[in-house]
Amino acid sequence: MYYPDELIEEVRMRSDIVDVISGYVKIQKKGSNYFGLCPFHNEKSPSFSVSPSKQMFYCFGCGAGGNVFTFVMQYENYSFQEAVKLLAQRAGVDLPEVEYTEEVKKRESQRARLLEVNKEAAKYFYYQLRGKNGQAGYQYLKKRQLSEETVKKFGLGFANVTSNDLVLYLKNKGYDDRLITEAGLGSFDEKHGMHDKFWNRVMFPIQDINHRVVGFGGRVMGDAKPKYLNSPETLIFDKSRNLYGLNYARTAHTNNIILCEGYMDVIAMHQAGFSQAAASLGTSFTPGQANLLRRYAKEVILAYDSDGAGVAAALRAIGILKEVGLSGKVLNLEPYKDPDEFMKNLGKEAFLERLSKAENSFFFELRMLQRDYDLNDPEAKTRFYREIAKKLCGFSEEVERENYIEAVADKYRIGFDNLRRLVYNYAAQTGFAAPAVRPKSGIQKKNDPKENKQKPQKLLLTWLVEEPGLWPKIKKYISAKDFTGELYQTIAEKLLEDLDAGKVNPAAIISLFTDEEQQREAASVFNTKIMELNTGAEREKAFHDIVLAVKRNSLDYFSGQLGSDVSALSKVIEGKKALEELSKTHISLD
Ligand code: GTP
Ligand code: MN
Repeated sequence: MYYPDELIEEVRMRSDIVDVISGYVKIQKKGSNYFGLCPFHNEKSPSFSVSPSKQMFYCFGCGAGGNVFTFVMQYENYSFQEAVKLLAQRAGVDLPEVEYTEEVKKRESQRARLLEVNKEAAKYFYYQLRGKNGQAGYQYLKKRQLSEETVKKFGLGFANVTSNDLVLYLKNKGYDDRLITEAGLGSFDEKHGMHDKFWNRVMFPIQDINHRVVGFGGRVMGDAKPKYLNSPETLIFDKSRNLYGLNYARTAHTNNIILCEGYMDVIAMHQAGFSQAAASLGTSFTPGQANLLRRYAKEVILAYDSDGAGVAAALRAIGILKEVGLSGKVLNLEPYKDPDEFMKNLGKEAFLERLSKAENSFFFELRMLQRDYDLNDPEAKTRFYREIAKKLCGFSEEVERENYIEAVADKYRIGFDNLRRLVYNYAAQTGFAAPAVRPKSGIQKKNDPKENKQKPQKLLLTWLVEEPGLWPKIKKYISAKDFTGELYQTIAEKLLEDLDAGKVNPAAIISLFTDEEQQREAASVFNTKIMELNTGAEREKAFHDIVLAVKRNSLDYFSGQLGSDVSALSKVIEGKKALEELSKTHISLD
């Protein structure tokens, strides 16, 4: 949905940044700003600041910054539209509804009904767990050392021994057999009539990233089979695009996600304070899930079972992570079977220690591969090395590949040159892997020549924000067209207009961008301190040089356009004149 700028600005003005951020982070007033611990990186002393006058936040530690939309986007991992929606709701601003076709409307209302019936079922199970019928389930969870708080947080419940009580309850609430069946909560057969899918099981509601119940996993108490029974896929439950626990993990802000195999593992992790844990839903890890995780973390730490099946699953997961460009590490939980058992036996500190020692996924793969070869046999050893070389061809980026060749040569004591030759021989036959497909982002690479040209543009904008009084002095020479980077040009257009009107509104400028990286970059224009220069003369020279560099760059740019753009010629002529004049002019900063 595209919202008009005025509406976005209205939402922003009605969402006081101090108010909104206070709901997420503890901040305290110091002078004219508020300070607190930055939620976007780990820190012990507060460098996260919120400015009520600028309506912006900025972290002096990690550089995170922006307006109220940026904050919500970063904190909730939302898109710009989602952040606008959330804040509009909070501030009571009505956003226009999208016009739906009949078919979409029907599907949406079916989705809504499925969500409703799942929520009702979750409430029922939750209530049963606390009642007389749920005693066994409650005891079971206690035995597995879950605290009251954890049981509540994950909304755990109990499906009674009775085989149709949920169906009766739901029908009583007005849901029909068809919806109950479509939600996977019950089914019909000749012998039993309409009956519950789950009974005598501890229930784990599966929530989507917005905390809505989309399905259930039910664990039998004791050793009966199947151990876990899961809801079937429905219109609202796509197992390949959801992860258990992700509704909490997505706001853990740890830069990594701990990927487990089981629901109980996730819960045990969260209980121990590792709220970045998530698990796939009783099926193996999928590319869809990997893509989802990429929104929230750069690194995925696999905490799979230490048995053969777990290792096989980890190896598969590593391949999938690599495909989407996520880096993976593997946790060693030996001698315990899974994260839950590890935590129970060795506790949090030991787990932290294992986390810090998580193995690079490539080395893990090699270590697992090695088990199939007897390295005392020269022939097997050679085959093993060939396999290694083959795997090394999987790195598409040269620097990365070379780094790995070096590290592997070192680790396995293979001569570096020998291994390298083996890799390149192999690649001559099959080629190197194609680069992983990563999503586009607004970030510009460091060392980009473009960046060198843009630096003066940014500095000039920052300077004008800090000292708006300088604008009239250079107005004659500089216009928004002199800014050649798309980002800075957009900022300049608005900022120079604001300066002309004598009123700078940084937070509104930031909402001109919908991309989080661009917002961050735009915010930094308003938060960078111009270098401390000692003398007035030094400052004057620096300012003069910056203005000159901006003008020169714009002249280069328009000269380059000559021939393709008729207006370029006049720009060039005008620019040359201005540049000449400017280089001779003294701009006083007083
Ligand atoms: P606990 O014994 O309760 O600790 O189970 P766990 O979490 O250690 O589970 P396990 O490692 O046996 O299995 C991991 C995950 O696979 C579970 O959380 C389920 O999602 C799924 N799973 C396990 N057993 C079954 C089963 O019998 N059927 C189905 N469909 N899924 C299962
Ligand atoms: Mn377990």
